[in-house]
Amino acid sequence: MSRVVCSADLFPEHFERLERAGHTVDRTPAGDTQALTAAAGSADAVICLLTDRIGAELLERSEHLRIVANVAVGYENIDLTAAQQRNIVVTNTPDVLTEATADHTFALLLATARHVASADASVRDGTFAPWRLHQPFLGSAVYGRTLGIVGPGRIGAAVARRGRLGFDMRVLFHSRTEKSDLERELGAKRVPFETLLAESDVVSVHVPLTPATRHLFDAAAFARMKPSAILINVARGPVVDEDALVEALEAGAIAGAGLDVFEREPTVHPGLIRCRNAVLTPHLGSATVDTRRAMADIAVDNVLAVLAGEAPKTPVTESSRADSG
Ligand code: NAP
Ligand code: GLV
Repeated sequence: MSRVVCSADLFPEHFERLERAGHTVDRTPAGDTQALTAAAGSADAVICLLTDRIGAELLERSEHLRIVANVAVGYENIDLTAAQQRNIVVTNTPDVLTEATADHTFALLLATARHVASADASVRDGTFAPWRLHQPFLGSAVYGRTLGIVGPGRIGAAVARRGRLGFDMRVLFHSRTEKSDLERELGAKRVPFETLLAESDVVSVHVPLTPATRHLFDAAAFARMKPSAILINVARGPVVDEDALVEALEAGAIAGAGLDVFEREPTVHPGLIRCRNAVLTPHLGSATVDTRRAMADIAVDNVLAVLAGEAPKTPVTESSRADSG
């Protein structure tokens, strides 16, 4: 019998599966790293959220730990090097959240281009401005415009498909390696970062957070974008320098931003709260019931496999590490 420590608020059936397999499950409050570190000391498996910091200290104290199963596709919250040094398997939840996250990206994209959030607020406030050619909330077109994908992996490619097939957009992308499938499938074009910034009407960010992508979007990047362009970030907050973004939004260097992720979640930059040309959602990319259930399924599958001496379904391997330039 093994001990599973779980900071993730799984669905009841997930706890049942772990217990039916003969494991004991101890729960710690989500996001409480201190409680998790204390409880993980005698654990064989940890199931955690992206808000849990799984650092070297926790991993070193946990002598029996065999697996850390992150209920997220991103895994920058886990010290992978320390885990690998101790032969602790790390797993994530790719693929099952791709379409939901791409849907949310498009929801933010359209909401930002057409001022949906501010317009909704004005109607609720009793300000229904009558139809005029020059009425408030005139937006910008999405259909037929140029979509720049920074990080055309699983989610970036799914967003590119929506743009190309649903909105007849021209798709540019920037990545470290070639994506010939995407070029063939969508007629998308791989371009240098600077070209993507200069030519895109919508820039959508889908890179993982790594040393190379931290503050990839800084003042210099915003200065290269069209003043009419919008930025969408459904990847990780620190990929964008929020001070520089607020300045760009306030100065009109870019037209708008749709953000699902923030540099210091759950704190949001006060400048972004002020900006009427920003649409903000609280890290909802994968937030559909089916998707969250599927993510928890994979985490539990991985834990059950490793505790049974089998290979996990979705290990984060050395080759999937994305921390180099
Ligand atoms: P993925 O399939 O690994 O895609 C990542 C892409 O980024 C790859 O195309 C990779 O291509 C590119 N990339 C990596 N480093 C780069 C760099 N330095 N410069 C340019 N491109 C780079 O990952 P995914 O499943 O699409 O997920 C992407 C990210 O979305 C996750 O890491 C997570 O942070 C975020 N996410 C957020 C939510 C949410 O709720 N908001 C939900 C799910 C995921 P190359 O290797 O060729 O460069
Ligand atoms: C969510 O942000 C994830 O990485 O799955």
